[in-house]
Amino acid sequence: MRRKLVVGNWKMNGSRAVNGALLSGITAGLDDATGATGATLAVCVPAPYLAQCQAALSGGPVGWGAQDVSAHAGGAYTGEVAAAMLADFACAYVIVGHSERRAYHAESNELVAQKAVAVLAAGMTPIVCVGETLAEREAGQTFAVVAAQLDAVLARLDDTDVARLVLAYEPVWAIGTGKTATPAMAQEVHARLREQLRQNNAAAAATVHILYGGSMKADNAKQLMAEQDIDGGLIGGAALTAADFLAIVHAAN
Ligand code: G3P
Repeated sequence: MRRKLVVGNWKMNGSRAVNGALLSGITAGLDDATGATGATLAVCVPAPYLAQCQAALSGGPVGWGAQDVSAHAGGAYTGEVAAAMLADFACAYVIVGHSERRAYHAESNELVAQKAVAVLAAGMTPIVCVGETLAEREAGQTFAVVAAQLDAVLARLDDTDVARLVLAYEPVWAIGTGKTATPAMAQEVHARLREQLRQNNAAAAATVHILYGGSMKADNAKQLMAEQDIDGGLIGGAALTAADFLAIVHAAN
């Protein structure tokens, strides 16, 4: 049985003051949600706030991570942040290939794969996002699109590293729109992704977490996470208030 994983993706939101209140609201509100049968938790925050998270969350039940990384190890890449730098702030997770990066920064499947490799090499867990646009879904291309996105990553990894991945299925049309994939729609894609993993590495397919992301809220989280292959959530808007995030954490139990 895979323990549920609930990760907040703050995107480009926050300030030192706002984050401080949010983090203490989350930690104060946690009770048995993180117990032996509960969920694993983390927040992925803008890079300037990693030190703040490390100071506030070290030793507690909430991990932290970043939202992007350079594929390069270091050097003359102005504005980039290397995986080793994120590891230096004890990040557990790094999101790679979020659809906002793919859409606004022209990130290709191949670049996303290189980023996943960089994260793994630095000892952290990449949360590899895949998902189709509305046009792709309507054209019946959903499975082909997510399969190609995952294939590019799998092609670069050996068996050990495949087992260290977290995947997130985020249908682009559901992100920040209030439209959620129904549990059945999401499960259908998650099951395909797990089958793709299984064909690559059967042992890893049983353990790799596949998160759902896209307008997951307190009122739909339980139904989504009740599906066999939905192992948690990657939460955007609802991760920005402690009460909403905690409600999803409780729904994961
Ligand atoms: O990575 C999380 C995400 O893109 C979903 O965002 O605001 O729809 O929960 P949201």
